[in-house]
Amino acid sequence: MTRSSSEDLTETMDTTKLAKRLDDAGQSHILQFWDQLSPKEQAEMSLDVENMDFIEINNFFQNAMKTSGQISQEKVDNRMEPVPREVLGSVTRDPERLKEWEKEGLRCISENKVAVLLLAGGQGTRLGVLYPKGMYDVSLPSHKTLFQIQAERIRRLELLAEKQHSRKCCIPWYIMTSGRTMDMTKEFFSQHKYFGLREENVIFFKQGMLPAMDFNGKIILEGKGKLAMAPDGNGGLYRALGTQKIVEDMEKRGISYIHVYCVDNILVKVADPAFIGFCSLKGADCGAKVVEKTNPTESVGVVCKVDGRYQVVEYSEITLPTAEKRSPDGRLMFNAGNIANHFFTLPFLQEIVRTHEPQLQHHVAQKKIPYVNPQGQLIKPEKPNGIKMEKFVFDIFQFAKTFVVFEVLREDEFSPLKNADSQEGKDNPTTARHALMSLHHRWILNAGGHFVDENGTRVPAIPSLKDGTDLPIKCEISPLVSYGGEGVEHLVNGRAFQPTLMIDENGVHERVKNGL
Ligand code: UD1
Repeated sequence: MTRSSSEDLTETMDTTKLAKRLDDAGQSHILQFWDQLSPKEQAEMSLDVENMDFIEINNFFQNAMKTSGQISQEKVDNRMEPVPREVLGSVTRDPERLKEWEKEGLRCISENKVAVLLLAGGQGTRLGVLYPKGMYDVSLPSHKTLFQIQAERIRRLELLAEKQHSRKCCIPWYIMTSGRTMDMTKEFFSQHKYFGLREENVIFFKQGMLPAMDFNGKIILEGKGKLAMAPDGNGGLYRALGTQKIVEDMEKRGISYIHVYCVDNILVKVADPAFIGFCSLKGADCGAKVVEKTNPTESVGVVCKVDGRYQVVEYSEITLPTAEKRSPDGRLMFNAGNIANHFFTLPFLQEIVRTHEPQLQHHVAQKKIPYVNPQGQLIKPEKPNGIKMEKFVFDIFQFAKTFVVFEVLREDEFSPLKNADSQEGKDNPTTARHALMSLHHRWILNAGGHFVDENGTRVPAIPSLKDGTDLPIKCEISPLVSYGGEGVEHLVNGRAFQPTLMIDENGVHERVKNGL
């Protein structure tokens, strides 16, 4: 028998209370299959919904729909302006300042003032794996995962700062997970002994989840006893920072600056001293790292001003004519491509958590969400039947008092892993692997080494597309040896190598077989 209302629930006090809460919120349909559920399923469902505030969720829905309606009417595009030159620092245009920024960043690190915060609560839907993206192995010679690469960069940077300032230091690593990724992520770190970091300096916390709703604001059931739930977006960070007492932990540790970044960029310069130093010397409370966007349809948001306030206009929210606009120099007008690397001071984050978080609006994504129909059958819709609501991490830029933008080179710092190899020719495991190996090839060339083929002929520095040798040289340098190209000269200068080359803490290994 299928119940149409929750009113006749007579079981425990708790269930009655739940039914009442749902009725009050107009969401009692989620109990329509209640008496078809086993006691275990009932208990699980109760647990899932126990702490959900349905009235708040309804409000989120109404506000999100209202805002998304306004966005399309008023056309954000017409109100956008590019980032002004005076807030911009650039690794290419300001080379003489770079050393100074790096030095300042390393000093801050050596004084234990810098933390990194990884956003790893996403579901990796496009990549199509059932485990957290950070556990992905893109088939590098070493087979290191994204988590391991990032952990080792942190260890190397601590060492560099320690050497330069002759004091021990630590960069705490905060890792935001979600209900979907928490257990597997923690387990993975524990299995790998935190990749050599101290356990107490790797701090996991969970972001919130929200139900998917249909266009009338009704929560969607993905099973008879299961709500369709999804993480509340990477901007769920700010609520979690408060509820999970993360800002308090940062304060206790004496942190001043936080580098927030996404899990999927294999080239990410975790706690990049140049970025930290640039932002701190500019007196910024908030900063964003960008690369030049060159293709109007690339899936990156653009950092810009909207109505005079800094913002990222997401790739899903910009129109093609605006994305295609060009400046007189021929470059895209909105070319500050967001690579999801942000700088915040702790006081700024505290202010956000205390005051502004509730003002952040959810963005709406229309999705095809599998649901159970009143007959209890699972339906996979062919067109969007509902929405997911997400806050975005960059939506706090608008509250910054001093906002800066740091432009870096794409080939040095940005190669995200979004898609599976089979799906698309870009941002996949192959492109990520190639980007890392090309970077390491360049480090070796810069340090005076070079490659030869099996006949001893020198391999050209720039691979040629014409003769099909555009594949990168297979080489990999462990982050434990080099963070940004330093520390390899004494190993490679004046030497010729045959791929596959691996340089790690145990030395230089040539002709490594890795089955690529
Ligand atoms: C993101 C940026 C986009 C940027 C691009 C660069 C946002 C909202 N958009 O887009 O402007 O140009 O990266 O690669 O930041 N995540 C969570 N919780 C969630 C959802 C996502 O922690 O609820 C994390 C993911 O694990 C990932 C990161 O946020 O580390 C980015 O998520 P993803 O959905 O891949 O963002 P993009 O759409 O690629």
